[in-house]
Amino acid sequence: MSQPSVSPFRVIDLIRKKRDGGTLSTAEIGYLVEGCTLGSIPDYQMAAWLMAVVLRGMTREETAALTHSMLHSGEVLDLSFLPAKKVDKHSTGGVGDKTSLVLAPLVAAGGLYVPMISGRGLGHTGGTLDKLESIPGFRVDLSVPEFHRVLKACGASMIGQTEKVAPADRKLYALRDVTGTVESPYLICASIMSKKLAEGTDALVLDVKTGSGAFMKKEEDAVFLAELMVETGELMGKQMVALITNMDQPLGRMVGNALEVQECIEVLHGGGPPDLRELCLHLAAWMFHLGGVAKTVAEGKQLSGEIIASGKAFERFRQMVELQGGDVSTIDDPSRLPSADYRVDVGSPSTGYVSAIDCEQVGTACVILGGGREKKEDSVDPAVGIVIHKKIGDKVAAGEPLCTIYCHSDAHAAHARKLLEESYTIAPTPPAHRPSLIHRVIHKGEH
Ligand code: URA
Repeated sequence: MSQPSVSPFRVIDLIRKKRDGGTLSTAEIGYLVEGCTLGSIPDYQMAAWLMAVVLRGMTREETAALTHSMLHSGEVLDLSFLPAKKVDKHSTGGVGDKTSLVLAPLVAAGGLYVPMISGRGLGHTGGTLDKLESIPGFRVDLSVPEFHRVLKACGASMIGQTEKVAPADRKLYALRDVTGTVESPYLICASIMSKKLAEGTDALVLDVKTGSGAFMKKEEDAVFLAELMVETGELMGKQMVALITNMDQPLGRMVGNALEVQECIEVLHGGGPPDLRELCLHLAAWMFHLGGVAKTVAEGKQLSGEIIASGKAFERFRQMVELQGGDVSTIDDPSRLPSADYRVDVGSPSTGYVSAIDCEQVGTACVILGGGREKKEDSVDPAVGIVIHKKIGDKVAAGEPLCTIYCHSDAHAAHARKLLEESYTIAPTPPAHRPSLIHRVIHKGEH
């Protein structure tokens, strides 16, 4: 007769251990993650353990063990059949943060593979999948074999998380969401890295946002999370870098799904707003450097500029859109993308200079217009958004538009308009300094 299996640990002991500031072993963490994924550990015990982690923190080894267990709770893609290095970029989320749509085709056109598994909008921040879905017909739900085919054909593919990737994260995130346990750098690190490492990339460039539109408002918190993610990725054999970048104002001038696709097309054609273009070139430079295509970051930046100027990056984007079912006529002529035709200007209350923008509030205004989700099950309107005319440091006359709302009616615009009016601070004199785009780079070794 077979013996009933005996659990190697008691969950209550693991909760107590963390509660009292102890360090869990790799086996203990693996036991918790497996039990949570299979449903053999009840939610109330997992939630208690998560809260203990929020309050007590984790060591680097524990964080790596948690990431490893979450990563291996599901499918890890094997992209070893691709004949060059695989690199990706992950952003912690911002307003008008659309660099992925430029980076994937740009870096693919430079000879590397970019297997990008992206997310949807979270809170006031936009999501890559929502932006892509504003291109009529574009499919983000490719099967793994389809993902492989697109990657092979054009070097880049952008899809959503499949059911099979990191199922532990799906369960843990849902629990964290309702138990006040999202805000732990250790849990955020394991959540993000487990999903990103499941893509089968060799190298990962992290864009960790800080400022009024970021989840990490304080730079020291962004740096802490960035260091943790870089160390965790390196412990798992990946080449890693993190750039701490500014999110005190929207990136570029467009906020909203189809508007952001339109702005990315401008960048891929060699134009676009300077901050967006600069950040894309810098992130691509790091992807080329970590991928071994450029000896230095400066070389990678020059290469990125040349690839855009040659038209090859745009061509790759067009190819990827076509391969994923999107209507390329909207890429060739972005005026065919969905666009709300009711426009409302938000005028400046006085003459002076823009001294600050509450960037989170700009993101919230876009959500209220329908460009993001207030609840998980909400659908997103691709046509609405905000076009920013004035950024920090810009001179403005009384009544001159600070930004324009794209929406469907005046009633629809009213709440967003109030938020946008409140989000701008106009001062009589120019601000002492404009926010710098890239605050810090966290990387071990030469660049
Ligand atoms: N994004 C994630 O994917 N996970 C977190 O825990 C927080 C942000």
